[in-house]
Amino acid sequence: MSFKRGKDLIGLCVGCIFLSSSVVRSQEVNPEFDSKMEWFGDAKLGIFIHWGIYAVNGIDESWSFYNGYISHEDYLKQAAGFGAENYKPKEWAKLIKESGANYAVITTRHHDGFSLWNTKQGNFNAVQHSKAKRDVLTPFVKAIRKEKLKVGLYYSLSDWSSDDYTDFTAEEKRYKISDEPNRWNRFVNYYQEQLKELGAQYNPDLWWFDGDWEHTAEEWRAKETRDLLLGFNQNTILNSRLQGYGDYATPEQGVPMVKPDSPFWELCLTMNDSWGFQHNDKNYKTANQLIRMFVDCLRMGGNLLLDIGPKADGTIPEEQVNILKAMGRWTSKHKEAIYGSNAGIPLDYYYGPTTLSKDKKTLYVFLEHKPNGPIAIKGLKNKINRIRVVGNGTKLAHQVHNKPYWSQKPGILYFEVPESALDEEVTVVALQLDGEIELEELKK
Ligand code: GLC
Repeated sequence: MSFKRGKDLIGLCVGCIFLSSSVVRSQEVNPEFDSKMEWFGDAKLGIFIHWGIYAVNGIDESWSFYNGYISHEDYLKQAAGFGAENYKPKEWAKLIKESGANYAVITTRHHDGFSLWNTKQGNFNAVQHSKAKRDVLTPFVKAIRKEKLKVGLYYSLSDWSSDDYTDFTAEEKRYKISDEPNRWNRFVNYYQEQLKELGAQYNPDLWWFDGDWEHTAEEWRAKETRDLLLGFNQNTILNSRLQGYGDYATPEQGVPMVKPDSPFWELCLTMNDSWGFQHNDKNYKTANQLIRMFVDCLRMGGNLLLDIGPKADGTIPEEQVNILKAMGRWTSKHKEAIYGSNAGIPLDYYYGPTTLSKDKKTLYVFLEHKPNGPIAIKGLKNKINRIRVVGNGTKLAHQVHNKPYWSQKPGILYFEVPESALDEEVTVVALQLDGEIELEELKK
């Protein structure tokens, strides 16, 4: 199997071959990698948290000064308003749990260089340089672990505020590495020291890198960084944004059209159009739209990392709370079709999303709309033991048509779902098969 490398598609592991411009994963079975990735593959839903000084004015995280919409100086002034007065990490963690997520990933430091913890590297952090005057990361990690969720730390490799970093804004670069190699070495040392602090203090289950596109793997010393983190915890998982040294692919905003090549992947997605809190951004997707995007990830065997952007005082905007609760209602009702599921069957067999249970003996069929007649599934060779509506229990009758005794074709399976058994968002029907799923081959 081979992968194309890009910002969003790579996943590699120990025992795999890393190349700077392309990544090749050997076909060899790698039980160590598979077992380290198991919780992630089963988790399906994670919550992303973008929290930083940008929530004060409610402007784009880091990009607003990078793109010149505000001066760097004025951008930094927001730190004086980052108070976390109503920050209740235990409530955050409960809500995240309630949504049905199994992990949370928080921005420990975005491209603006503001750290949420009490880093010893410089003083641009929540303790020494914000109204909050305290470490807001530690209580979050504790609360998340208390809810038995996995902890992911987002960390931007680039730091546009650091004097030792090459890039400042889209218009202004500070220096070229070839001109000032020592300055760059200082920067690499600084970011790796921060990672050591995070590794030692929080031992995260997952590292979510970002900002790698500004430098090559060699410049970031990506292999060294990977080894460093695995040194803290050999089971920790790294996302793809470490210039080829990650474990899973990270598409952003756009649901993939077809199943990505990478065995593990996660779509990160905003609820409105912003990662961080923005007062003016009311362009929220509905719970229905988000659940359907989630289902789209599930059918292709991926995860969804759904973002929230808390306000500067630490409260989570009401719209976001409501979405998390709506996700929670739906995920808890349909958990058997979600967690630990495998990608479903190709759309040629059923014109909609499906997942398969781990043992491949149950096919979960997702209905995004009210059916106007029976649901049809083509090419399914198995006998049906039972069809039932998930989270509701209703047993459904079925028929098989177009199956004359002389034909090898499996016929078409039909079943009706009564309106009374429909979910208000997406209904799920379980088809319990007589064994592992067997499908007619797709051929002309
Ligand atoms: C992008 C952006 C960043 C955001 C991230 C989340 O790479 O740089 O602002 O945090 O995506 O995936």
